[in-house]
Amino acid sequence: MIRVPAILFAFSNSFVFLTSFHALGAERRVHTSDFGKTSHGISVDRYLLTNNKGAEAVVISYGATLVSLRVPDRVGKPADVVLGYDTVEGYERGKSYFGGTIGRYGNRIAHGDFTLDGTVFHLPKNDGPNSLHGGIRGFNNRIWTGVDRSRADAQVLELSYTSADGEEGYPGTLKVKVTYSLPAEANELRIDYTATADKDTVINLTNHSYFNLSDDMTKQILDHQLLLRASQFTPVDSTLIPTGELRAVHGTPFDFTKSAAIGARINQDDEQLKFGKGYDHNWVLERTKKGGLQLAAEVFEPASGRVLEVLTTEPGIQFYSGNFLDGTQKGKGGQLYAHRTGLCLETQHFPDSPNHPNFPSTVLKPGETYRSSTVLRFSTRK
Ligand code: GLA
Repeated sequence: MIRVPAILFAFSNSFVFLTSFHALGAERRVHTSDFGKTSHGISVDRYLLTNNKGAEAVVISYGATLVSLRVPDRVGKPADVVLGYDTVEGYERGKSYFGGTIGRYGNRIAHGDFTLDGTVFHLPKNDGPNSLHGGIRGFNNRIWTGVDRSRADAQVLELSYTSADGEEGYPGTLKVKVTYSLPAEANELRIDYTATADKDTVINLTNHSYFNLSDDMTKQILDHQLLLRASQFTPVDSTLIPTGELRAVHGTPFDFTKSAAIGARINQDDEQLKFGKGYDHNWVLERTKKGGLQLAAEVFEPASGRVLEVLTTEPGIQFYSGNFLDGTQKGKGGQLYAHRTGLCLETQHFPDSPNHPNFPSTVLKPGETYRSSTVLRFSTRK
């Protein structure tokens, strides 16, 4: 080891500090701190992204998870609008996927089986007879590596993970990147996903945040008004596997083509609502040919005035009304999250696509790059 005199060492350190301070500007860097350790003693990083408009996002390296997202209400008062835990242990033990990055395959694969290039692959069944959200230890339970990629106009956090060939039963080594960007001058959190594989595989990545736009996480989300840019949805069987049909929403409780309160029809006598114990379905997004990011959903919470618009490049969105929340999980600040106190809008390809040739393909081949983007845009309304 080369010994450096203490004074020189101190000088070179402050020089490095000053140059990086000038190059990026202190306020334009992601702030990294310690979030604790996993049960195996691995350190988890906490990343804080801030902007000039009163928004703040916290992401951790465990699961590339969005832990909190603070945005202002109509009088400018910021509050956290997502459910989550205060500790790594919460995320390790939690069964609800709060804020997690879901992969390798978001949502369900029937009986945990699919065939690719003539080979049948068997995945762990962790949801009744099916495989859900990447298996027993999906991407939301893995440690990701974070790098600050902030630019002059946005704080940017890139997280990477390499999923081994055969992990949770999926073929091929998959290199995944998830990038969270918070622009300095806009209250929108952008999530970009890219991935490459060394063998044919299937992939469907999403973020599993639960939103409650009121300032009160004990309040149900039934007053939130939802609009979905979709005139069809994919009905399911009693185990929540799509039947393969694309069904018109017109005249059903699944019609959110005009903004409607989530609670207005949720308890109607409808077989699909019974199967889901509420809303837990994939909507087929109306997309124009030009592609790119397009509006998928809009949520308005009348008491706070907060509006969330979800834009995505994906063909589908899973609207889940928090039906499995049951008040037993202790979340942030010791809050117990009761039935339907959070709602998810998971941008995605359709569930069980590997078993439905009529659904858009989720196959990723070597040499190709998987790309998916979602923007969570916040504003307020009277
Ligand atoms: C998804 C599923 C739901 C449920 C939640 C997590 O939204 O579709 O059925 O499993 O994740 O609890």
